Amino acid sequence: MTAPVSPAETLRAALAGLLDGLPPKVAAQAVDRLIANYRGTTPTDAPILRDRADVAAYAAYRMPATFEAVRSALAAFADAVPRWVPGSHVDVGGGTGAATWAVNATWPEERPVTVLDWADPALALGRELASRNPLLKSTEWQRARIGAGLALESADLVTVSYVLGELTDAARTAVVDAAAVAGQAVVIIEPGTPDGYARVIAARDRLIDAGFRVAAPCPHSAACPIVPGEDWCHFSARVSRSSLHRQVKGGSLAYEDEKFSYVAATRFPVEPVAGRVVRRPQIRKGQVLLELCEVEGRLARSTVTKRQGLLYRAARDVGWGDGWPPA
Ligand SMILES: C[S@@+](CC[C@H](N)C(=O)[O-])C[C@H]1O[C@@H](n2cnc3c(N)ncnc32)[C@H](O)[C@@H]1O
Repeated sequence: MTAPVSPAETLRAALAGLLDGLPPKVAAQAVDRLIANYRGTTPTDAPILRDRADVAAYAAYRMPATFEAVRSALAAFADAVPRWVPGSHVDVGGGTGAATWAVNATWPEERPVTVLDWADPALALGRELASRNPLLKSTEWQRARIGAGLALESADLVTVSYVLGELTDAARTAVVDAAAVAGQAVVIIEPGTPDGYARVIAARDRLIDAGFRVAAPCPHSAACPIVPGEDWCHFSARVSRSSLHRQVKGGSLAYEDEKFSYVAATRFPVEPVAGRVVRRPQIRKGQVLLELCEVEGRLARSTVTKRQGLLYRAARDVGWGDGWPPA
């Protein structure tokens, strides 16, 4: 009997054929343009993803990483809401649909899904990729501009993944507020940079003001204990690179680590972890050093030594971003 194919594998297979029709030079130019645009001043007043070459380059170059980042955030979120499964999903600024694939990988059921974006070529490619996944086939791909007056249809889950950084301050506020009105749960993911973290914290504050509670990564809904400018809360997701990915990105490493910041918040009760490991654990001889964000809304260091037996063994296995202590 063959093992069932995971959404990640289906996505990988769907992406593999993507650059087939494009001359390598056109694909390389599209990637260069993409990198230049994403390094340049954002927001833009017109879509960065302008044509098929742009979106194919985006999907090959970035989508595996944004997919893994969202999937990782959703895994932590799902742990905090063990009995909840989203009955519907709206993905704002969804592009080629990375978050829809990640939601499908986390809760593999069919549900009404709407992806909104202002870039038609991204929506078209997203639809094409999703046609490979039976649970995403009926996804609606709709053109919409994020800005003042944005209204979203109600949904159990609203995701906004790698979008806030492309928006003006006003549009950023508008999308977070619209997500808070429409969603029972809102998950926002940004690059794991100081700026990405700052945007996540601003969104987190707005969601809490709107009556939401934080499910992950924070074990609390109090103010973030990190002093702005001194550090930033972020996590890491491992992305295995296909040969296509290596070809588009250059280099020969079999994987890369995507750094991301996120917040998942809900209108309904949640069971956040008691503590979250906020840095890569340091494994020393006979001890593991953990940096934690704790339920009281403070940062703490914990040293788990060999003498602590089972707890020590658990500490050796705990990863950056996991809950602590083990249930
Ligand atoms: C970096 S991509 C992220 C795509 C996808 N969410 C992901 O995680 O891979 C940003 C997306 O936001 C969309 N976007 C940016 N500004 C927008 C706006 N004002 N209105 C609608 N979509 C916008 C872009 O077209 C693009 O698809």
